[in-house]
Amino acid sequence: MKILLLGKSGQVGWELQRALGVLGEVVALDHEGAPGLCGDFREPEGVAAAVRSVRPDLIVNAAAHTAVDKAESEPALAQLLNATTPGVLAREAAALGAWLVHYSTDYVFDGSGQAPRDEDAPTAPLSVYGRTKLEGEHAIRTSGCRHLILRTSWVYAARGGNFARTMLRLAAERERLTVIDDQIGAPTGADFLADVATHAVRAAMANPALAGTYHAVAAGETSWHGYARLVIEWARARGLPVKVAPEAVLPIATSDYPTPAQRPLNSRLDTRKLQQSFGLRTPPWQQGVERMLSEAFA
Ligand SMILES: NC(=O)c1ccc[n+]([C@@H]2O[C@H](COP(=O)([O-])OP(=O)(O)OC[C@H]3O[C@@H](n4cnc5c(N)ncnc54)[C@H](OP(=O)(O)O)[C@@H]3O)[C@@H](O)[C@H]2O)c1
Repeated sequence: MKILLLGKSGQVGWELQRALGVLGEVVALDHEGAPGLCGDFREPEGVAAAVRSVRPDLIVNAAAHTAVDKAESEPALAQLLNATTPGVLAREAAALGAWLVHYSTDYVFDGSGQAPRDEDAPTAPLSVYGRTKLEGEHAIRTSGCRHLILRTSWVYAARGGNFARTMLRLAAERERLTVIDDQIGAPTGADFLADVATHAVRAAMANPALAGTYHAVAAGETSWHGYARLVIEWARARGLPVKVAPEAVLPIATSDYPTPAQRPLNSRLDTRKLQQSFGLRTPPWQQGVERMLSEAFA
């Protein structure tokens, strides 16, 4: 099997380079592309030509405009990266008879209420990022290509900058931290997302009735404050340079920390469809975060 991976250098893309290797030959591109192959999502027809040149059986898209606040001031670029080019990938996948795996987000929802949302829950994005990601989903669904859309949340990886790294940097400098306590979700590892995509697409290629949209997040829930507490406690227990005591990580409301993009308060996603359809288990969020901390900081 031939696989074309887009966005190979991002958190999830990096892990997909590893995970997809067991399925077949992976041609992996970032925005710089490769000789004769355009991987830059600002050039949808260039990316289309790359698909026609590689002729993959499977396209996996991990590229996106993920800078949620920045997207508010560059909606045209967010549209291109999150909706237009994924739509073009889907068009090319349909023409080739290839499968497309694509990631989306809990930000397609408005985050009202307390209950976890399933895949059929009404969407109502609050931000340019959420709106353009939702338009990307629609473009894929209406293209006629066989696809898996995996909606996830609060993605982290050992590699690159992430929330835990920011918390540990601040905790080494300050004696008190304030962290948002009223956005609830599940921190989800890029490694988990790459493995889920690999298992799920293998099953779906054998049974195309499994094509569709799935929620893929770690089990359990927390706030950014709860997440920060776990990171600080983990670091203190290992003697890392942390000035902040766990009780000096103070909860604040989203309204106390204004950002250009509005974020959903309830990011809980119901993963039963994923688990039941593919026979997969979602591990507790703490397990993956502690593993990432060990990899990045121990
Ligand atoms: N991060 C989260 O918390 C989160 C939450 C929910 C859903 N998701 C979704 O999960 C997926 C993977 O996200 P991630 O966390 O791995 O994101 P990420 O680390 O920010 O990676 C995004 C990738 O997009 C690429 N990209 C940016 N501009 C590009 C362009 N013009 N052309 C081609 N590629 C471009 C970047 O590549 P370069 O480095 O080459 O520019 C980067 O590799 C995305 O679909 C995202 O929407 C993420």
